[in-house]
Amino acid sequence: SLIDKGNHRHFMEKEISEQPEAISHVLDRYIDFASGTVRTGNSAIDFGDVAGLAISACGTAFLAGSIGRYWFEQYAGLPVEIDVASEFRYRQIPMSRKQAAFFISQSGETADTLASLNYCRQRGLKIGAIVNVTDSTIARAADTVFPILAGPEIGVASTKAFTCQLTVLACLAIAAGKARGTIDAFQERALVGHLAEIPRIMSAVLNDIQAQTFALARQLTGCKSVLYIGRGTSYPLAMEGALKLKEISYIHAEGYAAGELKHGPIALIDEHMPVIVIAPHDQFFDKTVSNMQEAAARGGRIILITDEAGAKASPIIPAAQIVLPNVDEIIAPMIFALPVQMLAYHTAVIMGMDVDQPRNLAKSVTVE
Ligand code: G6P
Repeated sequence: SLIDKGNHRHFMEKEISEQPEAISHVLDRYIDFASGTVRTGNSAIDFGDVAGLAISACGTAFLAGSIGRYWFEQYAGLPVEIDVASEFRYRQIPMSRKQAAFFISQSGETADTLASLNYCRQRGLKIGAIVNVTDSTIARAADTVFPILAGPEIGVASTKAFTCQLTVLACLAIAAGKARGTIDAFQERALVGHLAEIPRIMSAVLNDIQAQTFALARQLTGCKSVLYIGRGTSYPLAMEGALKLKEISYIHAEGYAAGELKHGPIALIDEHMPVIVIAPHDQFFDKTVSNMQEAAARGGRIILITDEAGAKASPIIPAAQIVLPNVDEIIAPMIFALPVQMLAYHTAVIMGMDVDQPRNLAKSVTVE
């Protein structure tokens, strides 16, 4: 059947491995390869005419939206208001009809996300739904549906839906930039070219880091607490890493903006505390590395997740590192998501946890 584990031990492992193919489906839908342009279908949302975006979601979908926010700001010059749906719906955020609102949900049934959608609808905003289940309640309530085409996701901890959500958001941000004149046809073609490489790079990375993430996971199993840090789009990814780890291994984990380390969490760091540093060699690299050195100086066990250029540029050799290929910054979150997912997966499996159905969690939360 469509919904079986095949040769995999868990749905989560299967879904991690399905990401290159799932992303291919997203690209086939949202990219016109012949012209090197993005296509968003017959959207009710005219990016050229909106004053800003409101984005809301829960859990992993919220963290995908938080990465998308950087893209809408950077590539389309659009201000983005984003919050978890359980806050968004009650905040009385000043809104105008000139804004468009996006709701991201794998299931399309999350109660707080639906309530946030209805809140925006009442205020006259145009509504886009970025969903996996296209006949869901959230999809039906939207003006425009942007399917993420991940296929059925069974594991409670979201993996392929996350990277598909990211890829759809990247396409939308490029489309928005194009409509608003903040990126030109040449830049669009270049960005589309980078997105097109995701499936191939993901396949290679999934193979290359299998043994290494397993070995590193063994070091995480005895830990009480793990800290993830990053800057820019790596900051929400750090939060996603922490969320994944705590959901399925029950190890306490926190994702923090690398620059905030010194304003609190640095007090926790000692030789028992792994610090997972997510640092592609981007404009933030030097800053993140100096935060990494601060953590190392307090005895923290550093696990650096970087790329080849970053490994070369790092002034210290961390206790452990995972080195990914150099990729353009727009696809770094999708590629760096893989070691983050695999570390959590292997840690939980080694600890004997039920990774597909962790205690106290549900795949879809239809209560408020
Ligand atoms: C639950 C799931 C998470 C998911 C969140 C939002 O907490 O365990 O994996 O990210 O709900 O779900 P949605 O279906 O709206 O994306």
